[in-house]
Amino acid sequence: MATAAIPQAAPVVLPRHVAIIMDGNGRWAAARRLPRAMGHRAGVESVRAVTRAARTLGIEALTLYAFSSENWRRPAEEIGGLMKLLKLFIRNDLAELVREGVQLRVLGDYRRFPADVVELIDDALAQTGGNRGPILAIALNYGAQSELVEAARALAARAATGALDPAAIDADAIEAQLETRELPPLDLLIRTSGEQRLSNFLLWQAAYAELLFVDTLWPDFGADDLAAAVEAFARRQRRYGGL
Ligand code: IPE
Ligand code: IPE
Ligand code: MG
Repeated sequence: MATAAIPQAAPVVLPRHVAIIMDGNGRWAAARRLPRAMGHRAGVESVRAVTRAARTLGIEALTLYAFSSENWRRPAEEIGGLMKLLKLFIRNDLAELVREGVQLRVLGDYRRFPADVVELIDDALAQTGGNRGPILAIALNYGAQSELVEAARALAARAATGALDPAAIDADAIEAQLETRELPPLDLLIRTSGEQRLSNFLLWQAAYAELLFVDTLWPDFGADDLAAAVEAFARRQRRYGGL
């Protein structure tokens, strides 16, 4: 007797590496007649919810744009508030990240931050250094153009000493210089708050990433929104120039 085929759920194509431009904290606060700092505070709750959701979904690497190299243009008071929140986040959440086996990474020149922040970050990196679980990369004082400038400088320096043949420089050689070199290829890049630009984030890595722009402001973005983004990704057809 023939048995009816058991319907199988279509295999979900999970993005290995998701990056998020967490935008809209200020507008979230303004809509509530609150100071911008309250928007950033609410944004930290989203960071917590989304990093947990990424682990539950089984995403290998999550990269969060927390402070761009252009964000120094903001008032000192706002920058100070962001530093405070960063410290608070590390103090409150590091134990969970350690426990969950999360490999913490920082993209960007965080050493330009105040000394106490740098110290906390270094400690967090050290405590999670031996972990083997999902990667949480936080972009702090990150700018994609500087990242590429640094890569060009490093390769040029090796070429100048004769250690590297300029003709041997290819995409892999550049990628090996990028701060994301140990991360899986970027599959999905999300920006919240309705803005449709990259704001100097992961310019090289985004070459074939799927882009998703959502109107939701970052403090309103939660686990369900990440799940919806992952579902939307699964429906995309990636072609890489082929058919
Ligand atoms: C994103 O929210 C957080 C950071 C850039 C640190 P914004 O502060 O840019 O919020 P909007 O864009 O002004 O609403
Ligand atoms: C991008 O947001 C940087 C972060 C989310 C950390 P911005 O709010 O700084 O970007 P622009 O200025 O609108 O392009
Ligand atoms: Mg913004």
